[in-house]
Amino acid sequence: MNVHAPLARAPLDAATSAFAADVTEALSQHPKKLSPKYFYDAAGSELFEQITLLPEYYPTRTELDILRARGADIRAIIPHHAALVEFGAGATTKVRLLLNECEFGAYVPVDISGDFLNAQAAELRADFPALHVFPVTADFTAPFELPDAVRAMPKVGFFPGSTLGNFEPHEASAFLRSARAILGPGALMLIGIDLEKDEKQLYAAYNDAAGVTGQFNKNVLVRINRELGGDFDLAAFSHRAIYNRERHRIEMHLIARKPQTVHVLGRSFVFRAGESIHTESSYKYSLDRFAALAKGSGWTPKASWTDAQQQFSVHALVAGE
Ligand code: AVI
Repeated sequence: MNVHAPLARAPLDAATSAFAADVTEALSQHPKKLSPKYFYDAAGSELFEQITLLPEYYPTRTELDILRARGADIRAIIPHHAALVEFGAGATTKVRLLLNECEFGAYVPVDISGDFLNAQAAELRADFPALHVFPVTADFTAPFELPDAVRAMPKVGFFPGSTLGNFEPHEASAFLRSARAILGPGALMLIGIDLEKDEKQLYAAYNDAAGVTGQFNKNVLVRINRELGGDFDLAAFSHRAIYNRERHRIEMHLIARKPQTVHVLGRSFVFRAGESIHTESSYKYSLDRFAALAKGSGWTPKASWTDAQQQFSVHALVAGE
């Protein structure tokens, strides 16, 4: 008897079907590689919020410091009564800084998770009663329509946190081109980009002493077990984050601690001892390499700001015709 024959399961919804297809393909590849977007269910988003507060994880703190210190410079280039379009919706700390500093006519947060977006929108409406908030539930890496109410307003895109660093370079360029098409010629974009730096500091940021990043990494296995009926033994995989100098990126991996066979949706996947699932890349840019990426993707660099140690950068770009 094949004990791993597919179990009779309820039909999967569209999002879970896409997750299932990506996971079974990822686990069949050599090397095994999964998209980092699957970290972010409710538990993964909560773990990421914990990461942003870790002493070793400098990006969030440093970006907030730059936004605070450069508030007046940013205000000076933001058109009056613009619509602020945020790609992805997370903690509202950064956008609140902009909303306090500049006078926006509307705020358009765009995220795939409608529930999260609506909760965030309700919070901001309560704290900024004069602000029009128009949440858009969409995958912000694909084309989407802006609400009619903001069509005539000048547009300012906001993509903080160096989330662009989690895209492969061709995906980063595709995102910038798509954002330009959505926001329109002449739009402004404020974008946070993590910078190359001492490897020891990068290593520490992704291998924190408290082990939160390891838990975040393993959360994708927790999701596979829960949502796709997987049987990953979490203790049989280790978190590993290394800096790949040639490719200017931190890579996160889950490493099989022993030979094993894992089952997902009734299919078997064999792991050798030491075999990896590459779960995330986090690209680090120099100011010049980021400016070249922006220019090659239809944007003109207008200004960039860093902290005194040049750990992190915030760029203002203008969309070309
Ligand atoms: C969301 N993103 C920019 C984070 C990063 O630093 O690449 C995700 C993360 N992965 C591990 N720690 C934080």
